[in-house]
Amino acid sequence: MPHDKSLNIEDLQYANLTESAESRSKLVHTFGALAELGHEVASRSNFQDTIRTSLHLILGSLGIMRGGVARYSRFEHEFNMLAVRGLGESFPLSLELCYEDERQFLTNGLAPIEVAQAAVLPFFQVYDRTFSASRLELFVPLVIHEETVGAIFLGEKATGLPFSSYDREIICAMGRHIGSAIAQRNLLAEIERRSEENRRLYDDLRMTYSDTVKAFAAAIDFKDKYTEGHSVRVGKYSEIIASELGWNADEVEGAAVAGYLHDVGKLTVERKIINAPYRINAKESAELNKHPSVGFEILSPIHHPYTDVPLAAKYHHERIDGRGYPDGLYDRQIPYIAKVVNLADSFDAMTTDRPYRRRRPPHEVFDDLHRNSGRQFAPELVTAFMRGMLKELQGESKEKRFRKLLGREYMEAEGLASSLRNILNSMTPTSPLTRISVGQAHG
Ligand SMILES: [Fe+2]
Repeated sequence: MPHDKSLNIEDLQYANLTESAESRSKLVHTFGALAELGHEVASRSNFQDTIRTSLHLILGSLGIMRGGVARYSRFEHEFNMLAVRGLGESFPLSLELCYEDERQFLTNGLAPIEVAQAAVLPFFQVYDRTFSASRLELFVPLVIHEETVGAIFLGEKATGLPFSSYDREIICAMGRHIGSAIAQRNLLAEIERRSEENRRLYDDLRMTYSDTVKAFAAAIDFKDKYTEGHSVRVGKYSEIIASELGWNADEVEGAAVAGYLHDVGKLTVERKIINAPYRINAKESAELNKHPSVGFEILSPIHHPYTDVPLAAKYHHERIDGRGYPDGLYDRQIPYIAKVVNLADSFDAMTTDRPYRRRRPPHEVFDDLHRNSGRQFAPELVTAFMRGMLKELQGESKEKRFRKLLGREYMEAEGLASSLRNILNSMTPTSPLTRISVGQAHG
């Protein structure tokens, strides 16, 4: 909170020199109160407390018997009392204003108005009885940056003397501090309201995006009748791997999206090649192998919020030993998200029936993953994946993610947990491969 410049210190010092010793000590006292008030306002303590303390400081430092501080509500056109002292029980909690009052207060600015001399304004006519019953003498509209944010109501001084000109200056200075505190509070409330609104909009968008992704995945899977639900499962396995790696929520969601969409390029491959009930020939295979690059082209123009989805589509058939396609990239050249999807994709291919073969038994599949760690798969992804499965087999995770995808019977294969433990123990811990943030998953 900047120091208040409107309190003309030189004038006050001049007044101080020309007035008696009594008013000098009063001035010192008042300055002390002002400093305290400034501190209170700047300390961002509880808003209600700040206002209450501010009121007490004004009343105390100027020897005023009673008073109150109100906040102005633009929408309700009324002052709502935030703190009162000595105004009596019948003093209203809120006081209405009309347009004329609002205009006059703005023109008046932050300066005390004598209640007795303001009878011309509707506000003082309406509340005439209330104000005289509470013996209010001064009313200060808190106008900050040409906006009325509140008001201070003040009763008479304990001495019975009228308010002096520098009493008024002090009141103005304190009023500016209190007004700033209220304005700041209003701003904060507005920011909170807008950020809440933004969050809601963002959630809606996120939902739309995720629905669209799922619709796409369903469309891809629909084309390939033998691998029904493949994209959806690859999305889910990718999600499991990402969460086992300890990625944050957005990154995990990004991995799922990359999995859902990895085969989008298959939409342009002829149906008879995709659905061939036999092993396809070289020519057909060349046609099919275009799907990663086509997928990349389809996905590139779209802005994906969480991860480099197009790169996952393009490189999900690369292997870390450089024997994959389309570019034969090695290990670190492969975007990390593509390695995640590659593992998920291969695992699903091994664990589902294909037209020319049955799905492979779990022991065989995990031996295969183990054997191909460091060849096709990044070893730490294989360990993360197996760890996830082992946790579920040992009942350590509540969600039955693998069970839903593989079926109960598959998960209950004899000795599966112990063979997973053996494999995990025999594998080198995490490889020195660096994890590339999924937000910038370029290899
Ligand atoms: Fe693929």
